[in-house]
Amino acid sequence: MFRVLVVHGPNLNMLGVREPARYGVLTLSELDDRIIEIGKKEGAKIETFQSNLEGELINKIQSSHGTFDGMVINPAGLTHTSVVIRDAILAVGIPTIEVHLSNIYSREDFRKISLLSDIVVGQITGLGHHSYFLGVIGILAHLKTQASVTTKDKK
Ligand code: DQA
Repeated sequence: MFRVLVVHGPNLNMLGVREPARYGVLTLSELDDRIIEIGKKEGAKIETFQSNLEGELINKIQSSHGTFDGMVINPAGLTHTSVVIRDAILAVGIPTIEVHLSNIYSREDFRKISLLSDIVVGQITGLGHHSYFLGVIGILAHLKTQASVTTKDKK
């Protein structure tokens, strides 16, 4: 069973209240429940984590080494600024998909820059909550493909 960590960055604890027209009406815990449900259907174990603090996000990413097979992350505003989140993902070497609720390429110029886009398996942006759902399905598809390639290599 694949284990996937889903990480939410700063201000995403405000989902449901924060700019609902842009970020949707689900609260974070409602969103997490749906993500976990999708994981179950796909036969995976999902853990979710949110923090407003960059250091706590780094600690969580670091602790995923050896305990998770893949990660889905919405670094929120830190997407555009955080070298340390990039470094933490590179340090643990866990396949990661970057997700965003809004389309970061249709917003202000500073949001068009992601410090993660070139080190992640892929990026899903602009599909609202579906960005997370597709992120989970995508990382599981990636992990399954990787596992079958590794098995073939051993034969
Ligand atoms: C976001 C986009 C970021 O630019 C913004 O700072 C967020 C949320 C999104 O999911 O659309 O907090 O990552």
